[in-house]
Amino acid sequence: MENDIKEILITKEEIEQKVSELGSILSKEYEGKTPLMVCVLKGATLFMSDLVRHMNIHVEMDFMAVSSYGASTESSGVVRILKDLDTTIEGRDIIIVEDIIDSGLTLSYLVDLFNRRNINSIKIVTLLDKPHRRKVSLTPDLSGFVIPDEFVVGYGLDYNERYRNFPYIGVLKPEVYSR
Ligand code: XMP
Ligand code: MG
Repeated sequence: MENDIKEILITKEEIEQKVSELGSILSKEYEGKTPLMVCVLKGATLFMSDLVRHMNIHVEMDFMAVSSYGASTESSGVVRILKDLDTTIEGRDIIIVEDIIDSGLTLSYLVDLFNRRNINSIKIVTLLDKPHRRKVSLTPDLSGFVIPDEFVVGYGLDYNERYRNFPYIGVLKPEVYSR
């Protein structure tokens, strides 16, 4: 299965280092507060679970599952909520935890949704950012790595639900798609 990877873009060690840095930054920014960390399933699960272990403040965690209507490979910007939050978000400081921001359509829809409820604040933290692909102006408040326009897998990210368990971020060999 490792043979399916053309190139390792970000190593396990680089991810660990970065996630620890992001955790420290968030701990300082939210000192004295208890942010509600919202993980967007499923891609962001590994990032979220590592990130919170590097935060030395109280946090709460919740999970959301969304899917984008229409074409399957690119998001349409119209988001269907498959699993909503269990937590009441009014008055909360929300941190949306994402695996990757691509077109930005999914996230800008979510941010609008949150902003229509009476939250106290909202920030976006993403492990990966593909800014060249953006279709809406959306800048994460914190981002781990800016990556080129290539489809990546590993550390939560999948192709057909596989590769999520790989500890690094890699680029798939083209023949994997055409199989
Ligand atoms: P937006 O709305 O920003 O969508 O276009 C972001 C979502 O698209 C998926 N995505 C990827 N998933 N490797 C993946 O495994 C990639 O390179 C990639 N680029 C985008 C992902 O689900 C993300 O949440
Ligand atoms: Mg995904």
